[in-house]
Amino acid sequence: PRIAVVGGGQNCEHAVSLASAAAVADALDPTAYDVVRLTIAPDGTWLMGERELGLGEAVTVLQSCAAVLPVVHGPRGEDGSLAALCELAGVPYVGSGVGAGALAMDKWATKLLAGALGIATAPGRLLTAATASTYAWTHPVVVKPVAAGSSHGVTLVGEAAELPDALAAALALDDRILVEDVVVGREIDVAVLGTADGARVVSPALEIVVDGWFDYDAKYGGGADFRVPAVMDDVDRKGLEGAALAVYDALGCAGVARVDFFVTDDGPVLNEVNTMPGFTEQSQVPKMFAAAGVSYADLLDRLVRDVLV
Ligand code: DAL
Ligand code: MG
Repeated sequence: PRIAVVGGGQNCEHAVSLASAAAVADALDPTAYDVVRLTIAPDGTWLMGERELGLGEAVTVLQSCAAVLPVVHGPRGEDGSLAALCELAGVPYVGSGVGAGALAMDKWATKLLAGALGIATAPGRLLTAATASTYAWTHPVVVKPVAAGSSHGVTLVGEAAELPDALAAALALDDRILVEDVVVGREIDVAVLGTADGARVVSPALEIVVDGWFDYDAKYGGGADFRVPAVMDDVDRKGLEGAALAVYDALGCAGVARVDFFVTDDGPVLNEVNTMPGFTEQSQVPKMFAAAGVSYADLLDRLVRDVLV
């Protein structure tokens, strides 16, 4: 079957999405799939190779495919936008639908939903461009855009003097921002793979080992090590798995989602959910499934086959 792999995207994670999409397109078995590579340029233009496509033409290309694999991290992609385009075009697509993408992209909505499930998140406040200047700093906090990714616009504010720049950096990417308490714990992620028959597979947990913060440079500059499976006692592991499954289903995710936690002395604290997590072979999710004996190509094959009609 013909499969469209869409990469790039009109947001701050453009370059990361190009890398994920290229790796995914290269790894799909060429004897099983005819891969069409589409890229969304930073200005929103759709490209097939060098050729620019109008949106109507791009939709026609998607409709010529048996399924779409949207590999666009961040807003106007992972936030349900690409799922919406596929829904309206009537083309099956891999991964979460409109609602789950939108909810998971919104870190405030995710926090509210986790709270309703009894899953801890960092205590935090929502601010807007209008209310940010009223925030009075009293203790170290993390300032972040509500909807972004790869640590873009995220600042650890250790003293009051750093607050204005941090608020401005987050507000440059979103008109809603979060100010959260700093959580002290091990950074451990798990992935959930759901299929249309309702089955759920939880991957081995992966610990991020980093000197300092898992920021953009550590994420993509090779400054972090992944330990998979993460060394944990059974109580912690079951707690993480249960929380990841509960959040996955409460959001209404489909396909694979990576659920990121801090494991603290008081139990797991949910950091965020990625419905289109980093997807090069070196990224966390492929490493998690590799640790469970599922190769990168097999993982992609499972995701695609599940949506083919
Ligand atoms: N937002 C990046 C791509 C991730 O979560 O892996
Ligand atoms: Mg993210």
